[in-house]
Amino acid sequence: MTDYFTTPIYYVNDRPHIGHAYTTVLADVATRYARLFGSDAFLLTGTDEHGQKVQQAAQRRGVPARQHVDELHLAFKTMCADLEIEYDRFIRTTDADHVAVVQGALARLKDEGLIEKRQYGGWYSVGEERFFDEKELVDGKDPVSGKPVEWVEEVNYFFKMSLYQTRLIDHIEQNPGAILPSYRRQEVLGFLRQPLADLCISRPKSRLEWGIELPFDSDFVTYVWFDALLNYLTGIGYPNAPGWPERWAEATHFIGKDILTTHTVYWWSMLMALGVDVPKRVFAHGWWLMGDSKMSKSAGNVVDPLALKDRYGVEVFRFFLLREMVIGQDASFSESGLILRNNSELADDLGNLVNRVLNLVEKRFDGAVPARGTLLEDDATLVGDADALEARVRDLTAALELHKALDSVVAYVRRLNKYVNDTKPFTVVKTDEARAATSLWVVLNGVTTVARLLSPVMPKTMADLLFRIGAASGVLVVGAPVVKGEPLFPKYEVPVTTTEAVPAPPAPVAPATATALATATEVSTGEFAPGPLLPEIEFGDFAKVDLRVARVVEAERVPKSDKLLKLQVDLGGTRRQIVAGIGLTYAPEALIGQHLVVVANLKPRKLFGLESQGMILAGKSGAVLSVVSPLAPVAPGGSVS
Ligand code: ME8
Ligand code: MG
Repeated sequence: MTDYFTTPIYYVNDRPHIGHAYTTVLADVATRYARLFGSDAFLLTGTDEHGQKVQQAAQRRGVPARQHVDELHLAFKTMCADLEIEYDRFIRTTDADHVAVVQGALARLKDEGLIEKRQYGGWYSVGEERFFDEKELVDGKDPVSGKPVEWVEEVNYFFKMSLYQTRLIDHIEQNPGAILPSYRRQEVLGFLRQPLADLCISRPKSRLEWGIELPFDSDFVTYVWFDALLNYLTGIGYPNAPGWPERWAEATHFIGKDILTTHTVYWWSMLMALGVDVPKRVFAHGWWLMGDSKMSKSAGNVVDPLALKDRYGVEVFRFFLLREMVIGQDASFSESGLILRNNSELADDLGNLVNRVLNLVEKRFDGAVPARGTLLEDDATLVGDADALEARVRDLTAALELHKALDSVVAYVRRLNKYVNDTKPFTVVKTDEARAATSLWVVLNGVTTVARLLSPVMPKTMADLLFRIGAASGVLVVGAPVVKGEPLFPKYEVPVTTTEAVPAPPAPVAPATATALATATEVSTGEFAPGPLLPEIEFGDFAKVDLRVARVVEAERVPKSDKLLKLQVDLGGTRRQIVAGIGLTYAPEALIGQHLVVVANLKPRKLFGLESQGMILAGKSGAVLSVVSPLAPVAPGGSVS
């Protein structure tokens, strides 16, 4: 299998928000599920860098368009890194290979008589950057944004899209799975029941300079949608790279419902004209709403996805996005919703189950996965259902029913809890150790399946969980050591207000329990697979890093973050402010007076609006963190080498 998943390429006219985060996480999770079940899946995401919106954004900033896109696309790359997106390519429409693909397609369609120069008048929407037919307008306005449109007359090049109307209708009718969810097909068919116009695919340079020049007329640039849609072909090496047709045959485009017409009618007719098959599926999801209105860059009511990720951890955030939105429909974003899901399904149902079971294994079975004895009927049912769950999740995710897949996993976790309550291994162990061992094995076997099936959503946490239960390879190993560790998912209090753009920070229910530095000794070795070692460096490279001993003078929490602490440290006469992400492990009071090791010559940077003038060193194994401190106090400012 060579699945191919794509996200829309995002306009670089502003910073990423939760809508972009959602589609990208959705596509990443679908890709990871395909990989889990044996596909060599490819994920493409990227940025849409040409056109009027982007040119206007650059003008507003007073910088050349090229500089603007070079800078702004990085925000989307950072978003991907922060959200643990494992893409195979991040495409930019300014990439040279993409420009070549667009110009190649234009030249070919022109040669074949499918592009023609015409005098044209139409209703133009600057916001949506496209012409609308009279019949598409709503109350004489842009039907998408509701903004005014203007009548524009000019000479332009047209792609003869109208030729493909019948083929488009036939394809949609004969391939019920090509537009998902199925109710979206009707929208497209409805659109296609009206006469289909040709598509204006050029913009005179007098009006718009920032675009790909038409290969046959240097007075024009390419209409941004004709340019952007072709990214899906460039991304896998069309037309020359070996293997692109096989990949293309398995293409799934994830998009928001706002761009369904462009991704079916425009795109498929372009492909038909180029003699390329239309993609296997286009999946249009719904909108994330704040209250009742759609969140968007232009509406200005955006939630910064990265702020929520910092507050609750990226993997809980990923879980929430997929769990909360019934795929396809709109969903209301609320921070409380995130906290409630976290507390009930992750912390209570899964985290607490694991905690109770591992506790017993540590206490009564020497901390090693116990061997199972004879399975009774209930045991066998639960074991069989773990396999059935795996098959069900494979089928549901292949059909992009990710929401139902997560439902099934969560339901199975509830059954594991019920099984523990029914079989009572905590009591039974006192009289019948073998029976308790079997129950524990059944639960650990079930948790192994759950962790594997949730790993596309929460890769690091689930790898940690598998390690803790003695199933690091994905298979439960009898006799393998288990590690209970800190709770997998901290719980949070629900803030009083439910929907707000910048919600109040929740207080952790058990605020920073591991307070004293002494608790750092609990960090067990081998609890997490360490990352690979970095390549060798010269001593001179190391010597550039100015490591110093610093004494913590003041420490307080950063408002609205439960990870960040703001420290004032003494570097031997000079004071520094350092913002450190150690707030989940350390209470501020526990740090005052401690001697720590800091990087003293790191360029200052801003975290949550606060300048951080250095960095604290800490050892890490997964989420467990321990600051580095000299064994005996060294005078503040003393060098570390
Ligand atoms: O349309 N809820 O880019 P764009 C959910 N460049 N998803 C949302 C959302 C919301 N409130 N707001 C945005 C473009 N999205 C073109 C695409 S593709 C060849 C060119 C997501 O930056 C959703 O996926 O406006 C939507 O389709 C996309 O962002 C639009 O991003
Ligand atoms: Mg948009």
